[in-house]
Amino acid sequence: MNILEAANLKIWDNRTGKVIVPNSSFHVKQGSCLAIVGESGSGKSLTCRAIMRLNKAGISQSGDILFNGMNLTELSEKEMRRKRGKQLCMILQNGMRAFDPSCVIGVHLKETLAWHFGWSREEITAKMKHAMASVMLKDPVSVMNMYPHQLSGGMLQRVMIALAIVLEPDIVIADEPTTALDTISQFEVVEQFIRLREKMGCSMIFVSHDLGIVQKMADEVQVMKDGEIVERGTTRAIFSDAQHEYTRYLVSTKLALNHHFKKIMGGVSVAER
Ligand SMILES: Nc1ncnc2c1ncn2[C@@H]1O[C@H](COP(=O)(O)OP(=O)(O)OP(=O)(O)O)[C@@H](O)[C@H]1O
Ligand SMILES: [Mg+2]
Repeated sequence: MNILEAANLKIWDNRTGKVIVPNSSFHVKQGSCLAIVGESGSGKSLTCRAIMRLNKAGISQSGDILFNGMNLTELSEKEMRRKRGKQLCMILQNGMRAFDPSCVIGVHLKETLAWHFGWSREEITAKMKHAMASVMLKDPVSVMNMYPHQLSGGMLQRVMIALAIVLEPDIVIADEPTTALDTISQFEVVEQFIRLREKMGCSMIFVSHDLGIVQKMADEVQVMKDGEIVERGTTRAIFSDAQHEYTRYLVSTKLALNHHFKKIMGGVSVAER
């Protein structure tokens, strides 16, 4: 069964009339992780935001987005706001942008959770403490009392994952959630995403340029180029038996980088592990 289906999704810039995504149809299977990869500007972020109906005012979209069989495009903005966070949760590249810099982290968490669930302060604190501990954020209470700029990028992403754990969404859409992080934080945050899926069994769309992370996270991979889906397959098929020339180029670039690393450092390359 599919939790999400996009049918004939078209996205365009309504000031210039330029069509960015001409006609995109894809699905996410219940409980599985679909990675979207492809070159910069191919329309990955616009596609994710179109699902959430979060594109900027200058961007228009048409087509259907079915979520658990319900057509999201038919919902009012108010109904859509109820779905965001609680049922469809988006985690962005830069955690800093998700938070208002003038409030401590706890204020965001309490406002979001009180709005969706009507929980008391005490309930929210208890649930967040538990979730933050599970994503290895030490001393959750002091984290809640900090401003976004006082936390590292990796910590902010982990706060977002902890919030997702409490919200228990049906699908998480993560748009390059590790790109802004250093290598060690990337590793830790990817581990937390894997745990989030194990814990919640939630479905996921994971956008990344890092094919090593994609290989680790995804069940299926969809390759985009110039607004079109040029190939889709299981992660294994995409990495070992890609059909499209562009996919083969992406995968071979990754292998070449790995071999280069092996050559200069010795040992086994990531792709061979
Ligand atoms: N608000 C906007 N107004 C007009 N054009 C936009 C807007 N946002 C994105 N675009 C254009 O749409 C195209 C696709 O952008 P998008 O951000 O979806 O690419 P992407 O695949 O996510 O790239 P990246 O890998 O760099 O994040 C780009 O050519 C971009 O210039
Ligand atoms: Mg993007």
